[in-house]
Amino acid sequence: MKQTESVPFAAVPAPENALLRIEDLQLRFGPVTALGGVTMHALPGEITAIIGDNGAGKSSLTKCILGVYEATSGSIYFNGKPAEVKTPHDAKELGIEAVFQDLALFDDLTLWQNMFINRELKKGIGPFSILDKRAMISRSDELVRGLTVNVPDAKRTVRSMSGGQRQAVAIARAVAWGSELVIMDEPTAALGVRERTEVEDTVIGLRNEGRSFMLISHSFDQVMRVADAVWVMRQGRAVAHRRISETSGEELVALVTGAQTT
Ligand SMILES: Nc1ncnc2c1ncn2[C@@H]1O[C@H](COP(=O)(O)OP(=O)(O)OP(=O)(O)O)[C@@H](O)[C@H]1O
Ligand SMILES: [Mg+2]
Repeated sequence: MKQTESVPFAAVPAPENALLRIEDLQLRFGPVTALGGVTMHALPGEITAIIGDNGAGKSSLTKCILGVYEATSGSIYFNGKPAEVKTPHDAKELGIEAVFQDLALFDDLTLWQNMFINRELKKGIGPFSILDKRAMISRSDELVRGLTVNVPDAKRTVRSMSGGQRQAVAIARAVAWGSELVIMDEPTAALGVRERTEVEDTVIGLRNEGRSFMLISHSFDQVMRVADAVWVMRQGRAVAHRRISETSGEELVALVTGAQTT
C-alpha cells in the first residue's frame, strides 16, 4: 500500500516511493523568515494539498520547488534523487510544472497555439523546416478530448473560453508536456461554482490516470473533495499531516488556526 497513516507530524516518515521529499527547507528574505525549516513529502499518483493561513509560507514553498526562489538551506529530493532546483528551467527539466491563478495563457492565440507555445512541432529539416500546424491542431484536439471539461475545438481563441475551460487547458498543457508533478496555487480562486467543479473534475480525472498534483487551497471543502493527503503550514513550517480519509473539514480548520496543534 502506498498510503501512510495519519500520525503526529514529527513521526511522519517519507515512504520509499515518495515523488517529492522536502527536508528542513529554509528561505529567508533579509530579516524575514518565509520558511523556517519545512519537511514534507508527496506521493506519486496523488493530489497532495497544502493549507495554511495567509503568510504561512505555502507559495514560498512551491516557489522553491519550482526554482523561482533558491532556498537558503535544506534539501529537495525528486524521484528519490537529490534535486538541485536553482532556476525554473531546472524544475522543468525534472518534470515539475506550475499552473498559476493567472494562467499564462495568451488570450488572442488559439487553444492549439497556447498548447504549443515554445514547443512548436516542426516538419522538414533545418532551414527548410516549417511549423507543422496540422499536426499541432490534431494533437491539441487529442489532448483536450481526454478532459472532463467540455473544451471547444483547438482552433478557438482562449479569449472565447470560460475561466474553467482556460484553467483546464492550462492543467492539460502542463500534464501533456510530461510533467511528473503539477503544482497548482489556488487554481479555482477566481472561478464560479460550476467552473470550479469542472477544474476539480479535470484534476481528479488526471489523478485517476496516475498523475501527481500539489494543490494549494484556502478552501477546506475543496481539499476534502479532491485531495488524498494534506499538509498544514503555520509560520513557515509544515506542522501537521493527514490522510484525507482520516480527517475532517473541522479538524483542518482547527489545525490551520492552531486550536489543534498536531
Ligand atoms: N519576495 C518576498 N520578499 C520578502 N518577504 C516575502 C517574499 N515572499 C514572501 N515573503 C514573506 O514570506 C512569508 C510567507 O509568504 P507566502 O507568500 O509564502 O505565504 P502564503 O502561505 O502563500 O500566503 P497566502 O495564503 O496569503 O498566499 C510572509 O511573511 C511573506 O511576507
Ligand atoms: Mg500564497
